[in-house]
Amino acid sequence: MLNEKLNQISADFQSEISSVTDIQKLEDIRIKYFSRNGLISLLFDELINVSNEDKPILGKSLNLFRNKAQEDFNSIKIKLESKNDSGENLIDISLPGNVQPFGSKHILTQTLDEIKSIFKGLGFSVYEGPELESDYYNFEALNFAPDHPARDMQDTFFINEDFLLRTHTSPVQIRLMESHKPPVRAIMPGRVYRSEAVSARSYCMFHQVEGLYVDTDVTFAELKGTLVSFAKQFYGDDIKYRFRASFFPFTEPSAEMDITCFLCHGSGCKICKQTGWLEILGCGMVDPNVYKHVGYDPEKYTGYAFGMGIERTAMLKYGIDDIRIFFENDFRFLKQF
Ligand code: DAH
Repeated sequence: MLNEKLNQISADFQSEISSVTDIQKLEDIRIKYFSRNGLISLLFDELINVSNEDKPILGKSLNLFRNKAQEDFNSIKIKLESKNDSGENLIDISLPGNVQPFGSKHILTQTLDEIKSIFKGLGFSVYEGPELESDYYNFEALNFAPDHPARDMQDTFFINEDFLLRTHTSPVQIRLMESHKPPVRAIMPGRVYRSEAVSARSYCMFHQVEGLYVDTDVTFAELKGTLVSFAKQFYGDDIKYRFRASFFPFTEPSAEMDITCFLCHGSGCKICKQTGWLEILGCGMVDPNVYKHVGYDPEKYTGYAFGMGIERTAMLKYGIDDIRIFFENDFRFLKQF
């Protein structure tokens, strides 16, 4: 009896499922066969009335039918659903992609990268120090006496009696020498701060790169050779240059390096204030008094130091006439580089 019923239901199911063409009809089939009171469930209920002898065989047939029916149902369901899909879930791989705009390095970072790469080629490594400094590192160890007039040259942001925002990267020289024995040869880039009125030419925060080379028998000729090589690689092979005597407390003798104006090539214009020359950096031979602070023997070692502003360097190279523009994040400016 049950066997015949099973055959009948199985045949009905096969014909219904093979002719179904829409999701709604499929749902009707699901309810008719697979729901709690559906035909398959009822078939299982009838197993109670079967003799113990036939039970295992019929039970097995019922299970096989149910599993096969469920499989057929599922595969038809997938087919009908994908046919029904309006397309919004499908990916059209032939469509052009959305263009993602790329960011780029800030012009100051690009300038610093170029400076670093030139000095690395000249045998310098890169070293960094803190922006929050003590009076000792920023002034005293660099041979600025307490009442030294040079201290007035730098308008300083003091944090308290002991700490200040460094006004230049020169204190990193001291930290480098304190922690390393000669020979030392490194450039030291970083931010510096000055309490100056903000204008097209000066800003309260900017960047410098310091350089230091100390060993036995380092000469002023080597200082010149290194800086000329840098300037030619950075500004162009055809520049002319000159070193003018200057003063810094931590170097003796001291000099400033000028190159011919990139705009007028020396004939005089607004950029170079009619002089034909542009100052690009300060430099000099490390003052023996500085060595005393770091425990180097001034009888044994000599060396040179130099320092330049990164904003100024970029302004000269790219003809930028207002320092404030570096920090305004105006997209029209940034995307030119
Ligand atoms: N620290 C100086 C400044 O901020 C720049 C400088 C000049 C650094 C001469 C040096 C140097 O190392 O030798 O103006």
